[in-house]
Amino acid sequence: MCGISAYIGKENNAAEIVFNMLSRLEYRGYDSAGVAYVKEGNDKISVVKDIGMVENVREQYISEHSDLCIGHTRWATHGEPSKINAHPHLDCKQELAIVHNGIIENYLALKKMLEDEGHKFVSATDSEVIAHLIEKFYNKDDVLTLEDAVRQAIALLRGSYGIAVISSKEEKIVAARLGSPIIVGIGKDKDEYFVSSDTNALLPYTNSTIPLNDGEIAILTKNDCRITNKDAIPVQKKIEKILYDLQSAEKDGYAHYMLKEIFEQPRVINETMRGRLKVEEGLAKLGGVRMKDEEIRNISRIIFIACGTSLHAGMLGKYLMEEIARIPTEVEYASEFKYKFPVLDKNTLVIAISQSGETADTIASLREARERGANTLGIVNVVGSTIAREAKKGVYIYAGPEIGVASTKAFTAQITALYLLSLYFGRIRNTISGFALREIVEEFARIPEKVQKILDNANVIKDVADKFYNYRDFLYLGRGYNFPIVLEGALKLKEISYIHAEGYPAGEMKHGPIAMIDENFPTMVILVKDNVYNKLMNNVEEIKARHGRIVAITTEGDGDVKKILKEHDEVIYIPKTLPIFYPFLTVVPLQLFAYFCALKLGRNVDKPRNLAKSVTVE
Ligand code: AGP
Repeated sequence: MCGISAYIGKENNAAEIVFNMLSRLEYRGYDSAGVAYVKEGNDKISVVKDIGMVENVREQYISEHSDLCIGHTRWATHGEPSKINAHPHLDCKQELAIVHNGIIENYLALKKMLEDEGHKFVSATDSEVIAHLIEKFYNKDDVLTLEDAVRQAIALLRGSYGIAVISSKEEKIVAARLGSPIIVGIGKDKDEYFVSSDTNALLPYTNSTIPLNDGEIAILTKNDCRITNKDAIPVQKKIEKILYDLQSAEKDGYAHYMLKEIFEQPRVINETMRGRLKVEEGLAKLGGVRMKDEEIRNISRIIFIACGTSLHAGMLGKYLMEEIARIPTEVEYASEFKYKFPVLDKNTLVIAISQSGETADTIASLREARERGANTLGIVNVVGSTIAREAKKGVYIYAGPEIGVASTKAFTAQITALYLLSLYFGRIRNTISGFALREIVEEFARIPEKVQKILDNANVIKDVADKFYNYRDFLYLGRGYNFPIVLEGALKLKEISYIHAEGYPAGEMKHGPIAMIDENFPTMVILVKDNVYNKLMNNVEEIKARHGRIVAITTEGDGDVKKILKEHDEVIYIPKTLPIFYPFLTVVPLQLFAYFCALKLGRNVDKPRNLAKSVTVE
């Protein structure tokens, strides 16, 4: 993970620009932060870095004129969070500085080699080897330039990296990537250039970008940007525009990004549907899929690969694909898939789901799927990200920038895309009647306003959270389409409030978890009017018989649930819909519940401890 940023150009407050960019990348890690720059009229590298968040480190920086700077915000992998392990890292002569996002898997061997050659290491990180390796090649016999030295150094690295490098001897930034994102930002008048781990940090300065591909190197000076491949051969790249504006990446008066993102969901569902859900025609269409009808009919199996929240979206996708399109579907943790020698063929469609498009486990599995001959499709939020570029086909979800570490609106946008995809495949494969399809499409179009209704009553959920936030453990129960939702709800609670919560398919409760139930172990249960309603009512009875407290999410007008609950239990009502669409309406109260519990506990909602938004290491 980690976020890196860099600036070179006409402005002489380069470090301030880099700090600004770093604070927009902080969701990628916030264990420590730092910058390195070359002061105007000086040939030394200055470094300001420390443990803690970008703002803490910025307070230690005393403004100096500089037109060249690199910076880093860290999520610790190798070496504890500390000042010495914070980036940037320097070479022995302190003439070079590097920032790195990724993991250097062969760093121990490289470190040994460099130490034997006399290099002195100061940190416990894997990243520091990059600085010493570049030093090894740089100015050897006064011939090599910084870019040549970087090229020679990265040829020896194994693992993943996005790096930016400066030297006190040359006015340039050299950036390179393998497996970790690097986006070059181009100033309006081509007299300044930026480097960032994502487009969001570039937004205040430019919307013209060049995302690097693996193996590419960018050489940036004040008025020039050259991209080459690893053999120094120039690569022609297209300038890509960022499709959203600065305002959509701000908090808009909400206390936290997460709250803003939860409230954006009705709009986001509409955006994802736009032009794809044809209510008049009673069907769904997805242009980006670019599959011939014949190819869709020939799909013999779908495998969803994803992590975390995106995996939960995939689990719901399995229910949808099997019920609507009648395609046998599996869901795999991306971190497991690659290493289990998957059996694949050209009729297997592997669908990678990822908000960021940069999750290392998902990228690795997608590549494995391609190598083993499967057809691949990406469901991605970040335009131009690695997964979006590497999957053979793609569906963008158009959720806009998601800054809160806990994913919310990306999840609802992902499932919107999955409903659309299942309906599309179902129609082409003739597994759903025109009549049923029309009914589903019409109700689908009403979902955003039903979600809005829940948000309008967010205070009810806040009151429930105020009564339950002090528990240490929770059981979350749901069945069918709502099973992935309880997994997602429990993940939200764990991530941001640090309350332990276990999501379970309700039918399994009697096979084990029921042993934990007592008055100190409350249960969140999704109890909507579907084909398993009565079974869930039985679960509630069983919990009540053991004095467990209940929070039930149920449909408006359901008087029966209340009858079996006691005074310390709570009910959250949601609007009625078709059983298939309840996930949209049941996930929102769970997101809000987690948010309000975390708020009450004084947690850092947008940047929970130990987490990072984008997990770019395997
Ligand atoms: C969700 O709240 C998490 N922060 C995390 O599980 C996330 O969904 C996961 O890391 C996958 O990220 P991606 O969607 O960007 O691939």
